[in-house]
Amino acid sequence: MKTITVNASKKYDIIISNDILSKTGEMILNIATPKTVAIITDDIVDSLYSKTVENSLEKSGLKFIKYVIENGEQSKNGQNFLKICEFLAENQITRSDMIIALGGGVVGDLAGFVSASYLRGIAFIQIPTTLLSCVDSSVGGKTAIDIESGKNLVGAFYQPRLVICDYSTLDSLSDEIFSQGCAEVIKYAVIGNKELFSHLLENKKSFDREYVISECVKMKRDIVEHDEFDKGERQLLNLGHTIGHAVELKSDFKISHGEAVAIGLCMIAKASFKKGLCDEKTKDDIIKIVKEFDLPVLAKFSANELYKTTLNDKKRTGDFIKLVIPYSVGDSRLLKIKTDEMLSFIEEGI
Ligand code: GLY
Repeated sequence: MKTITVNASKKYDIIISNDILSKTGEMILNIATPKTVAIITDDIVDSLYSKTVENSLEKSGLKFIKYVIENGEQSKNGQNFLKICEFLAENQITRSDMIIALGGGVVGDLAGFVSASYLRGIAFIQIPTTLLSCVDSSVGGKTAIDIESGKNLVGAFYQPRLVICDYSTLDSLSDEIFSQGCAEVIKYAVIGNKELFSHLLENKKSFDREYVISECVKMKRDIVEHDEFDKGERQLLNLGHTIGHAVELKSDFKISHGEAVAIGLCMIAKASFKKGLCDEKTKDDIIKIVKEFDLPVLAKFSANELYKTTLNDKKRTGDFIKLVIPYSVGDSRLLKIKTDEMLSFIEEGI
């Protein structure tokens, strides 16, 4: 078991271990004494893990209610946000109660935004059940819903009170969903962890889960402690995401977020090499590891199509866009470029 403490606007622990869902009740009582706990989850996770969490809450004498959404990104919307708020109000949930986000990134983002907004803020804990949410979205307090104009356009920075990362839940993921989380893990290694990169290359998908999740979470902890509100250093976590988001959007989300990030990583590596920002080995190593994890390296969109889509990116400020460049594996840094220079990066990346 590993415990990593985040010291941001709120201090909280991330507990990483095997088979700890059944200790949810006691872990909650270590940090708070809610009267009622509201579990928010999706239909798939509900059928797999709610019972274990509910039994644990009961054993600890905690009352609970539950709201189940349909699985998938389409559920991260304003209607569900309001429906959940109504559900909490109907059940007289107050600020002395607590919300549990039990699931992957969609559940975590939606339940987190509900927690940030309902009664102007109620305590919540994250119990991530996908690799992507274990290593990234459950940590750092980004919460959001999607609107018609784009993904995550409405949200808040709101830190959880605790993250319970039980990586035995990853056993139930399909190979495809697991690989998608691997794209984010590879991203962390390329940003700043050469040892992690070597471990991944050596062990492929049989990597040591506790080691890999802890390394990613420690990196995220350090970044969030320096830049909780995403003004500078936190943008490093966007490595592969600027082009990746454009790929995801252009495909109408048929290409998943993880696959799009993998493509974005390979494209920015190629472009960085062609522009003399990294050497050939760095580019080759990044493409090699993406292939080893059965992730795609390119999408069939033209440079112009992708460029137009990046213009709507929320990371763009005025005429500038901050790109994350992999100068070498383990050393990625931000590079501010004029928005129109983005086209040539995309052209070189194809
Ligand atoms: N997922 C990127 C971040 O939390 O900043």
